Amino acid sequence: MLPRSTTALVTVVVVGIQLSQQYFYNGIKSGLEPDLKHSLFLDRIGQCRWQSDLAIFLADMRIVQRNHTHYVISGVLRIRRNITEATTASVSIEICQNTTQCRPFVDPPVSMGDVCKFLDGQRNSSLGEILSHSVPAIECPFTKGLYRINDALVDYKLFRYFSPHVSKLWRIDFVGESDRKRVFCVRIELFVYSWEDMLPRY
Ligand SMILES: *[C@@H]1O[C@H](CO)[C@@H](O)[C@H](O)[C@H]1NC(C)=O
Ligand SMILES: *[C@@H]1O[C@H](CO)[C@@H](O)[C@H](O)[C@H]1NC(C)=O
Ligand SMILES: *[C@@H]1O[C@H](CO)[C@@H](O)[C@H](O)[C@H]1NC(C)=O
Ligand SMILES: *[C@@H]1O[C@H](CO)[C@@H](O)[C@H](O)[C@H]1NC(C)=O
Repeated sequence: MLPRSTTALVTVVVVGIQLSQQYFYNGIKSGLEPDLKHSLFLDRIGQCRWQSDLAIFLADMRIVQRNHTHYVISGVLRIRRNITEATTASVSIEICQNTTQCRPFVDPPVSMGDVCKFLDGQRNSSLGEILSHSVPAIECPFTKGLYRINDALVDYKLFRYFSPHVSKLWRIDFVGESDRKRVFCVRIELFVYSWEDMLPRY
């Protein structure tokens, strides 16, 4: 007979090995290559809940995990009026203890400058991938209409800097202004766990 503590250790090691082969089936890999040891759960991409009346509205997107490295997202973006003036955007990142207790991680928000110029430089990135899956194409200047984003692939690379050692729950807000009025506010909520966190506790 092995002592109890040894049995527990053996169980952890064996279960741990099984889990480390399988746990990425829940969530996608993230982390800095080659150390893709975190599991990322993309929880929500959609309009900031308290700002549903803005000129641009993104309904909650459908998020489906494709495999260990990719999500597929789909949704509808409504542009309620032509936005003729330049639109500038900023991004803020918060870390949260739970769904109500958050604090800024990046403060003040980082300016992305002119959205149209920014998007132009994003053609080959994940964001470019999302926008290129819109029907009709989302183009500048933003024109009133309904835009369907169909099955855009999002890979782990977009999320590699979100570390579970900093926080398990992250919020990213993209806020846009045009002619000194807020025109969009999109929030991304995600969870990230290290594989140690996902082992059962004994
Ligand atoms: C996951 O799916 C994407 C898109 O279909 C593909 O490009 C990628 O190679 C797949 N990754 C794995 C690990 O199968
Ligand atoms: C919005 O812009 C489109 C394309 O430039 C134009 O055809 C349409 O008439 C404009 N709508 C309004 C309400 O200004
Ligand atoms: C969130 O955490 C704070 C501080 O730990 C606690 O006071 C609050 O009740 C928690 N809220 C929820 C919804 O769990
Ligand atoms: C995007 O990729 C294409 C082909 O790989 C390249 O020709 C183009 O310059 C790239 N555009 C940007 C903005 O990086």
